[in-house]
Amino acid sequence: MNDKEDNNAEKKPFTLFNNETGQSIEIPVLQGSEGPDVLDIRKLHEETGMFTYDPGFTSTASCESEITYIDGLKGILRHRGYDIQELASKSEFLEVCYLLLHGELPSIEDKNKFIDVISNHTMLHEQLVYLYRGFRRDAHPMAIMVGVVGALSAFYHDSTDFSDIKQRMVACHRLIAKIPTIGAMAYKYSVGQPFVYPRNDLSYTENFLYMTFSVPTEEFKISPNIVKAMDRFFILHADHEQNASTSTVRLAGSSGANPFACIAAGIASLWGPAHGGANEAVIKMLEEIGDIENIPMFINRAKDKNDPFRLMGFGHRVYKNYDPRAKVMKESAHDVLKEINNNNDPLLKIAIELEKIALQDPYFIDKKLYPNVDFYSGIILKALGFPTSMFTVLFAIGRTVGWISQWKEMIEDPINKIGRPRQLYKGKVSRNYQLEDNRDKKSIFNWLWKK
Ligand code: CMC
Repeated sequence: MNDKEDNNAEKKPFTLFNNETGQSIEIPVLQGSEGPDVLDIRKLHEETGMFTYDPGFTSTASCESEITYIDGLKGILRHRGYDIQELASKSEFLEVCYLLLHGELPSIEDKNKFIDVISNHTMLHEQLVYLYRGFRRDAHPMAIMVGVVGALSAFYHDSTDFSDIKQRMVACHRLIAKIPTIGAMAYKYSVGQPFVYPRNDLSYTENFLYMTFSVPTEEFKISPNIVKAMDRFFILHADHEQNASTSTVRLAGSSGANPFACIAAGIASLWGPAHGGANEAVIKMLEEIGDIENIPMFINRAKDKNDPFRLMGFGHRVYKNYDPRAKVMKESAHDVLKEINNNNDPLLKIAIELEKIALQDPYFIDKKLYPNVDFYSGIILKALGFPTSMFTVLFAIGRTVGWISQWKEMIEDPINKIGRPRQLYKGKVSRNYQLEDNRDKKSIFNWLWKK
């Protein structure tokens, strides 16, 4: 019996009583190592004929996981038990990748082997270059990411039988290794510069910056502080429990789908402005605000129920306190701007003032809306020279290890089942087919197009 089973045995079941029928059932309560207990409703439908209703999964634990723990009220984020602030200040991204994948920080020997393995997979199949060329130059780099990562499934047939641990690990390594190359090539393609092949003598993050910013005509030089800031950005985005994109990866993977295709699905989900696309939206918003004196107007718009505008980079489904990643990101933004001698960055000034005003406003206080990871990250990325359209790509590069670790954990979980939610059906009940003459004359189609 493992620790969890032992814990579960100690918990008294939860009794659910139906006032109408007098029926009562006992629901087992599961206990994690930390965090809220969980009602195990797997037998609920069988025993009562009822489903549960939870749009947006605000009260639903979709799986067991040992990778990441979040306490949203206290503003805590830990990977495999290690605090994010400590990882961001003491670790490096590839070490965090190892930690997420394998559960422990690597020994020196394992770390070197892991770096070697990842370095050996950084190149892309040359045929993929033609895939890039098929895109319009003005394609959003996230569109290219979805396409190219999905296409990996057509190139690496020797790592798709994931019932074999070796193939499973090769797929994980390939994804971690190739994602910076894919992202850098998406950037190069959009600016019309030649693709730059990876260099395995450079660190993971330096190599990514080299593939992104070097040109054949000049020697590539980059400050170690900038490499460190980028590496920290990747660490801060490495994993975040069962968010929309990770749940998408798990759901896609639960059917036994190809791992590269599952990660492409995750990238698609990340793209949205409510998720990873927010870092791009924050910069657009700060530019639109334009001046500190316009902040109150934007704050009022964010509070107005009739205005769809929201303060981008603010609020989080889980954090009802300051996002711990945002704290590190804010410090990093100051470091980067100092490094590039741009202490007076107008967007940073607007962001700091906006944060100050929002955190004193009863609307944001009552709703527990704090800056999230995206609030300061865009300022760093802009200062490093990335166009806003690349911001979510950078999030995807950091998050790939989280997605693939969660996918691997799911595949290795003996209780893994295909994900298949049910619904509360509110549509028409059974009715007879109507011949054309008997149908409603109002045109839905015309109404739609007039809108
Ligand atoms: N500005 C103004 N009001 C907000 C905001 C905001 N940024 N976020 C939430 N609210 C209000 C919202 O209108 C609602 O008010 P009411 O209860 O009166 O209807 C209340 O706060 C709760 O919001 P919700 O949309 O029900 O909360 P949620 O948990 O479904 O949404 C969120 C979380 C992150 C999608 C949302 O806070 C948001 O849209 N934020 C802006 C986008 C953003 O920064 N996204 C990045 C998330 S962190 C990175 C990542 O995980 O990808």
